[in-house]
Amino acid sequence: MPTKILHKEKLIPGRTSKLVLDAPQIAATARPGHFVILRVDEHGERFPLTIADADKENGTITIVYLVLGRSTQMLEDLNEGDVIQDVCGPLGRATHIEGFPAPKKVICVGGGTGVAAMHHIAKGHHDAGNYVIACIGARNKELLLFHKELSLFCDEVLVSTDDGSMGSQGIVTDLVRNRLDEEGENIAEVVAVGPVPMMQAVAELTRGYEKPTTVSLNSLMVDGLGMCGACRVTVGGEMKFTCVDGPEFDGHKVDFAELRTRLGSFRTQEGQAREERRCNCMDKLAEKKED
Ligand code: NAD
Ligand code: FES
Repeated sequence: MPTKILHKEKLIPGRTSKLVLDAPQIAATARPGHFVILRVDEHGERFPLTIADADKENGTITIVYLVLGRSTQMLEDLNEGDVIQDVCGPLGRATHIEGFPAPKKVICVGGGTGVAAMHHIAKGHHDAGNYVIACIGARNKELLLFHKELSLFCDEVLVSTDDGSMGSQGIVTDLVRNRLDEEGENIAEVVAVGPVPMMQAVAELTRGYEKPTTVSLNSLMVDGLGMCGACRVTVGGEMKFTCVDGPEFDGHKVDFAELRTRLGSFRTQEGQAREERRCNCMDKLAEKKED
């Protein structure tokens, strides 16, 4: 369905933006963990983005994206008031959220752009009455997303930056390890969203503490309906489709090595497509100047 951009915020100029979309039908049923599939224009490819927030009353959803390939660059070229050709959703299975009475706590881990997607899940746990510890990590403080938004409802927000420019110096798994060492008996569940190596590292860490761990997989997708097979992953030795069986799975059962290989399959083509689009845009700008 054609969907208008109501608000655009460049969170990290040239790298990450946030869009608030006029999508009342999606907002009415969107729950934490759901995603949408977008097609920027009639020639565009379909690509998935996790819903970072949904506001039923105002009929809006929020998405946050990293400008990585041609399609996210096309999205980045749009502005407030512009229309995205298709936004389809909510898709996928919502996060399984259980209520954990005190003193039990839930750790929600987010790395880089994944912090925005984790935000909706953390909110769901908060709304269910759970004590939420957000552990968020970025390379430096300029790249840290949603710190303010998470601080509005999380019981604790712990920050790590690789360079130490904000919070503790180190990677986000250091925060999780410290917390598990301090009060592991109170941690009921760990949820992780972010780069695949981060989710894998979180799952490997929590396995030793025997803590249930949910990860949100960002597989390549085409139809988003379970028919094309593009998003297949192996979980517990079984083939699953991220779009209809996920995107969230038991992190201790995911075959991360296979996921990393599949995600890397089109990296060269993605880079070429993005470069082509950049060159086309520059040609158009040059033509305009000549006119
Ligand atoms: P990044 O590479 O800058 O990493 C962000 C933080 O994650 C780091 O500062 C560190 O704290 C942690 N981290 C990274 N690698 C780690 C490792 N091996 N062990 C422990 N911690 C580690 O993040 P970025 O460039 O913003 O990441 C973007 C990636 O996240 C993209 O590949 C994107 O597809 C993915 N992503 C996934 C989802 C999802 O739903 N799973 C959502 C948004 C983005
Ligand atoms: Fe086609 Fe999941 S995207 S099966």
